[in-house]
Amino acid sequence: MNNDILKVLYSTEQIDEACKRLGKQIQQVYAHKVPVVIGVLKGATFFMSDIVRQADTYMEIDFIDVSSYHGTTQSSGTVEMVTDISTDVSGRDVLIVEDIVDTGRTLKFLTDKLNQRGASSIKVCTLLDKPAGRQVEANSDFIGFEVPNEFVVGYGLDYDEKYRNLPYIGVLKPEIYTNN
Ligand code: PRP
Ligand code: MN
Ligand code: MG
Repeated sequence: MNNDILKVLYSTEQIDEACKRLGKQIQQVYAHKVPVVIGVLKGATFFMSDIVRQADTYMEIDFIDVSSYHGTTQSSGTVEMVTDISTDVSGRDVLIVEDIVDTGRTLKFLTDKLNQRGASSIKVCTLLDKPAGRQVEANSDFIGFEVPNEFVVGYGLDYDEKYRNLPYIGVLKPEIYTNN
């Protein structure tokens, strides 16, 4: 699996540092609240589990699964709900945790939905922000790294459902896509 990687963009150590930094920011912002922290499956699972343990504050956690990529490197343009949260977010402070914001469509779908349900505040924490990919407006409140316009894998991020379990974030060799 490591052999398929062209270059490492963010090492395990760099990711750990980012989680600590963002966790402390979240701890301060929610110090006197009990937010519902929602991890977006499947990509955000590792980041979600690392970051919430860096924030020494009361919170609830939940997960939501939406999908738009359908096993390709290009966003399909439509976002579908796969599995909804079980928490009632009406009147709650919500923090969405994402691995990456690219076109922004997933985040827009989620923030629209949570707003409709009456969340009293919605903030976003993303490990990676790729502003060059943006198709719709989508802003994050807590950002780990701003990434170049390359398709990245690892630490939750997949290509065709693989590479999520790499402990770092990297760029795949081009032949991996073209052989498929
Ligand atoms: C990926 C990624 C984000 C979203 C970002 O999820 O994890 O959730 O796409 O892309 P966007 O800004 O262009 O919408 P994906 O739908 O591939 O599901 P996954 O997390 O299960 O890989
Ligand atoms: Mn995702
Ligand atoms: Mg994906």
